[in-house]
Amino acid sequence: MSSHAAGQDDADPGAVRVRVPAKVNLALRVGPRGADGYHRLRTVFQALSLFDELEAVEAPDGVIDLTVTGEGADLVPTDGTDLAVRAAVLLRERYGSPELGAHLHLVKSIPVAAGLAGGSADAAGSLLACSVLWDLDTDPASLGALASELGADVPFALLGGTALGTGRGTQLMPLLTRGRYHWALAFADVGLSTAAVFAQFDRAGVVELPPLPEGLLQALASGDVPQVGRRLANDLQRTALSMRAELLATLRFGAGLDGVLGAVLSGSGPTCAFLCADARAAKVVADRLGQLPSVRAAEVAVGAAPGAQLLS
Ligand code: C5P
Repeated sequence: MSSHAAGQDDADPGAVRVRVPAKVNLALRVGPRGADGYHRLRTVFQALSLFDELEAVEAPDGVIDLTVTGEGADLVPTDGTDLAVRAAVLLRERYGSPELGAHLHLVKSIPVAAGLAGGSADAAGSLLACSVLWDLDTDPASLGALASELGADVPFALLGGTALGTGRGTQLMPLLTRGRYHWALAFADVGLSTAAVFAQFDRAGVVELPPLPEGLLQALASGDVPQVGRRLANDLQRTALSMRAELLATLRFGAGLDGVLGAVLSGSGPTCAFLCADARAAKVVADRLGQLPSVRAAEVAVGAAPGAQLLS
């Protein structure tokens, strides 16, 4: 018998499979919009062990299409407008030729519109998978450049680990970190639009880009996880809470649980992220959070996870 996992035995031998991580922002500082319409950011991304998988197989006559299963699959458009398809089209335009085609199949674990950059992760996965499927002459730098055209969080999904992001969030510097970061994540029933949260944020009239929380980078470098927990910060949190009052109760409840070192809204929300002292605490915290009426489901994840990776 094959040692493959259930469901893999009939896998297409020509298929390329990749895995891409969700992210949390340990700190997200937001300044005014630039001339490109994007806000200037100072952020620390961390990739989490919550992965979408994407499989690409060759398709005839330049067809690029998408099927989706898993978490929130019905929320992902399959009419060609999804970022994973747009990523494949962009890659083909720049590095391939029109007859190249791919059937993409996405197995979602990262919730949609959750502040975890799931759509960006899928785009990063599509760039990597199609680049291998079509045997294109790309390297990490060229994929990174395409990634930043596709969205502010896509380059980080390729890179993974823990990284400082500046500019729109696309200028990345990998950070030296120590320690394992155990998270409990509380997912909400209904997603939040990143664009809508940023638009609402603008009403506060921020004129300067604030610095990162003092001591955060040092705490990461020395692996002082409790200090990292105390320095979690998100400038979009107040705005998102004004749009979803129930998230405040989720954050407060989680922050008060044993073993929680810090609580923060992930990105533009609505996922609430709780940094925990160890794996056991994270599990207990996730179980408690999952019982809240404002929480659809809660899961544990570990950082820092690798970026987009080939599985076969
Ligand atoms: O780049 P992405 O498509 O993921 O961003 C979604 C939306 O979030 C953008 O259309 C923009 O409104 C907002 N955004 C922003 N500034 C950033 C990143 C995102 O205003 N640095």
